[in-house]
Amino acid sequence: MDAAYSDRTKLLVVNSPQNPTGTVYSKSELQAIGQWAVDHHILLIADDIYGKLVYNQTEFYSLIQCGQEIADATILVNGVSKAYSMTGWRIGYVAAVPEIIGKINAILSHSTGNPATVSQYAAIAAFQSDQTDVEKMRRAFEQRLNTIYPLLQQVPGFKLDQKPAGAFYLFPNVAEAIQIVGVQTSSQLVELLLNEAHVAVVDGGAFGMPGYLRLSYAAGLEDLKLAVSRINTFMTRYLKKKVSGGISIETN
Ligand SMILES: Cc1ncc(COP(=O)(O)O)c(C=O)c1O
Repeated sequence: MDAAYSDRTKLLVVNSPQNPTGTVYSKSELQAIGQWAVDHHILLIADDIYGKLVYNQTEFYSLIQCGQEIADATILVNGVSKAYSMTGWRIGYVAAVPEIIGKINAILSHSTGNPATVSQYAAIAAFQSDQTDVEKMRRAFEQRLNTIYPLLQQVPGFKLDQKPAGAFYLFPNVAEAIQIVGVQTSSQLVELLLNEAHVAVVDGGAFGMPGYLRLSYAAGLEDLKLAVSRINTFMTRYLKKKVSGGISIETN
């Protein structure tokens, strides 16, 4: 963080669980990040949108649970898109100290009207209703993660350093896959995967991380298994071609 800091730095966005890596920060990590921001007099945005989607005994903490000083410097943003699977309803919310909320209101009141009334009532229903469906969905995500993570680890040229602990994405390093397939960039690999394996993934470049792919496991388990098997077949075919061409590549 020090390397990215300058006297023009005003705000640090902390997204945990994270899109695209699925990383979840521990309370002590958040404490350290929050204290750093307070010490440097900068604000924090806590994007907690995936907070209810954590897996395999991982615990979710927010920056606002890291003491009064850090909470006061934090603008909490959240919404119904993920935990309640209500992406299209366009309801998000923000919590911060009154001074910041006042400024947000001043800008918002001139740039947009209210979200649709029906969406606001749907969000109230989501928050107030029995939360067992959220847990059912969380478990489904956990099962998908635990099933496809080991399968993806076996794909030639795909490297997964750390198992995600939240959100619903995998973010493999595909530097070797790029070499095996014989393209220059992860964005070209994305095109080939779409056109030849018929699997849609997102280029890590969209997140400032070329050389990686983001795979979402928001689809059903059977579709996900099929997708990983297609990626595996695609990569194995290129690996064989490469090896039979006389060049040997070490994978995983
Ligand atoms: C990091 C992050 N924050 C927030 C959101 C929620 O966005 P929205 O409320 O516009 O659906 C998403 C959805 O993809 C996300 O990945």
